Amino acid sequence: MSGELSPIDTAKFVAAKRAVQYVEDGMRVGLGTGSTAAWMVRCLGERVREEGLDITGVPTSSRTAELARQVGIPVVSLDEAKWLDLTIDGTDEYDEDLCLIKGGGGALLQEKIVATASDRMVVIADPSKAVEHLGAFPLPIEVIPFGWQTTKALVEEMLGAMDVLGTDATLRMNGQAAYVTDEGNHIIDLHVKRIGDPRKLSLVLNQIPGVVENGLFIDICDVVVIGHGDGRVEVTDINEGTHEEERIEFVDSDNIFADL
Ligand code: 5RP
Repeated sequence: MSGELSPIDTAKFVAAKRAVQYVEDGMRVGLGTGSTAAWMVRCLGERVREEGLDITGVPTSSRTAELARQVGIPVVSLDEAKWLDLTIDGTDEYDEDLCLIKGGGGALLQEKIVATASDRMVVIADPSKAVEHLGAFPLPIEVIPFGWQTTKALVEEMLGAMDVLGTDATLRMNGQAAYVTDEGNHIIDLHVKRIGDPRKLSLVLNQIPGVVENGLFIDICDVVVIGHGDGRVEVTDINEGTHEEERIEFVDSDNIFADL
């Protein structure tokens, strides 16, 4: 299979393959959204089908729900599951404290609710997601459609008083129309460039009327699994204070990833 995969896809695949080793029989598992998380859903589906792993998945988007069902993972809502053992998701950026920017795929609200309702959050990524300071990736915020332009103006004004390098905010588009999330809201991307105090920014953003949630994940992520194009993975566990490296072996035994 490695011959068919680009280095970036190999990196995402081995990170996903390593991360699903955290999943055990009987677990309720939050299923993230995005291209890396899609690898994880496929790998988990493979374990369900081949090992008879008995799990329940809680998807963080309609896209992920559809994929999970396709690969054979039983899916329930968060309200049905109530509390989760583990969530595995991708990220747009992570720093050395395992603080994240998420929402590039537009699913930050459900992702944050699901991850917060989990005993443990494992993030999977390729090395390009590591940053010294969060903020080069535009920070998404989810806003309700009513009065979104006023909300945007309030956010830009607030950013002027924060420890950031940029204050531009743009409405995310889907072709000619505003992007609409699974919750019927819009996304505004904040081009802050560098965030000096992510914790403060997250708190202040969520005080602005019209802002539903922001893409900063602070003190939520427990483990980051970084995949590399040569099949290596690095696992950093912030609670254990450990950093380990290993190699993921995989064989070209089937073609379940071909349609990703
Ligand atoms: C979706 C997300 C994704 O996890 C994030 O955008 C990373 O996506 P990808 O794995 O495709 O790079 O937050 O809302």
